Amino acid sequence: MTKFDLVTELFPDVPYMKLGQAQKLRELIIAEGAEDIIEVGFYQGKSSSYIAAILEDQGKGHLSTFDKSSAQNHSPNIENLLEKTGLGHRVTPYYCKRSYTWELQRLISADERPQFDFCYFDGGHTWDTSGFGVILIDMLLRPGGVILLDDMDWSISKSPHYKKNPKLSKQYDQDEQDAAPVRLIWDTILPHFGYEQVAEYPSEGWGLARKPL
Ligand SMILES: C[S@@+](CC[C@H](N)C(=O)[O-])C[C@H]1O[C@@H](n2cnc3c(N)ncnc32)[C@H](O)[C@@H]1O
Repeated sequence: MTKFDLVTELFPDVPYMKLGQAQKLRELIIAEGAEDIIEVGFYQGKSSSYIAAILEDQGKGHLSTFDKSSAQNHSPNIENLLEKTGLGHRVTPYYCKRSYTWELQRLISADERPQFDFCYFDGGHTWDTSGFGVILIDMLLRPGGVILLDDMDWSISKSPHYKKNPKLSKQYDQDEQDAAPVRLIWDTILPHFGYEQVAEYPSEGWGLARKPL
């Protein structure tokens, strides 16, 4: 059995990444020949496990993935998933005290700045966090590398989390609540940096953009 199928079999009820998304992701990672992968937002580690499985099934590559320190408290958490699948050697999870934006700063300022060829961006969809986040990711991406944006149509006003906590929404103007920040990044920030809009995958909620050479 492939590791990809093992992840599907072992964790049918673990959110978030769905099988259809994982199959599309596998197609994209293989087409790109991506080996150095970075992921923003791992939650319980389902998408990270799929990415690790795709790499393991090809016998090469590594994933660096970021979430808040509180992600350790999930049951199961990313460590449990990686242990069960024997995929731990393919993944470095980074636990961020406040935000991945600071953790990415540490990578950018490291003596040897790591370089990635594929980013799966699935964390913190507000304008400030994701907008700044993709700029930091750009600094870590090789020329010709790609960013796969999740939740292209997410908005504060549609988010169940914000609906449950109306006080949180109140700090935003109504037009910011109604905006789709990830799509704004796709339409404004990425073209500003010369990225090509390669494709949208509406059934996955994704947009794939390529950094110029
Ligand atoms: C939708 S979940 C990720 C799901 C995961 N990619 C999957 O498909 O299995 C988004 C994650 O982003 C994380 N996140 C949001 N803002 C963040 C921030 N500023 N720093 C670190 N993690 C953040 C959340 O804690 C959450 O676990």
